[in-house]
Amino acid sequence: MLIFAFSLLFHLSSILVASSASCGCSSVVIPVHVDVSVAKNSTDPFAGLKSNASDLRRVEANYDIHGVFCQPEPATANESDVVQILVHGFTYTGEYWAPPIAEFRNYSYAAFSCARGLSTLAIDSLGTGLSSRPANASDVQYQTSSGALSQVARHLKSASILPGVAPFKKIIGIGHSGGAAHLNFGALVEGAQSPFDGLILTSFLMVTADTVLPLPPLVPAREDDPSRWAALDPAYVTTSNRTFFYPVNTAAFSPRMYAFDAFTRDPSSISTLLQGAISTLTTLYTGPVAKVMGSEDQLFCKGTGRCDDVAALTAQEQVVWPKAQTFEVIVEQGSGHDMNLDFLANNPFATFVALVERFSRV
Ligand SMILES: *[C@@H]1O[C@H](CO)[C@@H](O)[C@H](O)[C@H]1NC(C)=O
Ligand SMILES: *[C@@H]1O[C@H](CO)[C@@H](O)[C@H](O)[C@H]1NC(C)=O
Ligand SMILES: *[C@@H]1O[C@H](CO)[C@@H](O)[C@H](O)[C@H]1NC(C)=O
Ligand SMILES: *[C@@H]1O[C@H](CO)[C@@H](O)[C@H](O)[C@H]1NC(C)=O
Ligand SMILES: *[C@@H]1O[C@H](CO)[C@@H](O)[C@H](O)[C@H]1NC(C)=O
Ligand SMILES: *[C@@H]1O[C@H](CO)[C@@H](O)[C@H](O)[C@H]1NC(C)=O
Repeated sequence: MLIFAFSLLFHLSSILVASSASCGCSSVVIPVHVDVSVAKNSTDPFAGLKSNASDLRRVEANYDIHGVFCQPEPATANESDVVQILVHGFTYTGEYWAPPIAEFRNYSYAAFSCARGLSTLAIDSLGTGLSSRPANASDVQYQTSSGALSQVARHLKSASILPGVAPFKKIIGIGHSGGAAHLNFGALVEGAQSPFDGLILTSFLMVTADTVLPLPPLVPAREDDPSRWAALDPAYVTTSNRTFFYPVNTAAFSPRMYAFDAFTRDPSSISTLLQGAISTLTTLYTGPVAKVMGSEDQLFCKGTGRCDDVAALTAQEQVVWPKAQTFEVIVEQGSGHDMNLDFLANNPFATFVALVERFSRV
């Protein structure tokens, strides 16, 4: 019943989104060519960055990266140069940033920022959503998926994403959780050459190789839902239990959003979870960086004490960003790990827009 209701809504909402006068959204597919060295051991916590050449193997492939591009109509003169690339977290898709259903429009950062004159591209990371999904999940490590993301950014700066849309001059990356790790990895590999002019990393703090995050049980996607994923490599995993992504207080979010979230879960390559220790490596990235956390984030903040003293947290986190033009940590009081999906979503949204406007000017 639930499945039927949501798929029906999905079709209706495409029409609603398309007919919106102030904001135009289109599905786009950006082809990328990736040629990288991944860890032979796909559970290496440092994604091969500390490995010897003999412990690496080459992945060379063409992939399609799908995204939803939204822009204000008509484009405002001063902000048409800037685009935000939005990167979802582990077991999510681009729908985290732009739920395609009218009922959940209040949770769409794409809609929120579009109404404030800013364009977005919410991508599906490699291996998720409507993007290419390599048959072998061990090919989807940070080297490949973050490499594909950087190519998407370079494409937006050099080519027109849609007829009539000029290449963008500035790109601000906003990542959620595992999506923040993707942007973090790109900053490690590309440093001052990064195509991103500013980074906003949400719901993501340093994770050492021994950190055990209190994640719900992850299962091979093919066991979770054989009707959709029977053919997948078991290293593509997911979870229908998403309680840890929300505040403990169940009055802080809508049960319908929780149901929608569980229904729209997606498989992710387990490597991109296990390689999170890349966040402890020093990056020579030179743009401005902000981390935005929710005080009720059960993975990183709630019960850990890490987010109580913002000055102390900032001092800890900025150690690995020595060349960043600016570095700050903001803690959103009351928000959970999925800060876009609870009732306080508009608080972090306003924070993101303020940061993007500031980062676009520097
Ligand atoms: C792969 O790396 C993990 C994490 O460091 C380690 O526990 C495991 O033993 C390694 N596997 C192999 C086959 O080397
Ligand atoms: C890399 O090779 C050197 C020299 O052969 C060795 O001492 C070192 O332990 C190796 N490092 C890793 C991570 O395997
Ligand atoms: C949702 O959006 C509508 C307008 O679109 C607004 O009136 C309402 O206050 C919003 N609700 C929340 C919880 O933000
Ligand atoms: C994935 O590729 C690796 C490296 O080539 C190989 O060792 C592994 O067996 C492959 N796994 C599957 C499920 O094909
Ligand atoms: C979800 O996972 C948590 C932690 O493992 C557990 O406490 C809770 O009972 C689970 N909920 C359901 C509905 O399985
Ligand atoms: C665009 O112009 C408006 C009004 O002058 C200003 O408030 C906003 O910060 C500008 N945006 C950017 C990205 O510079």
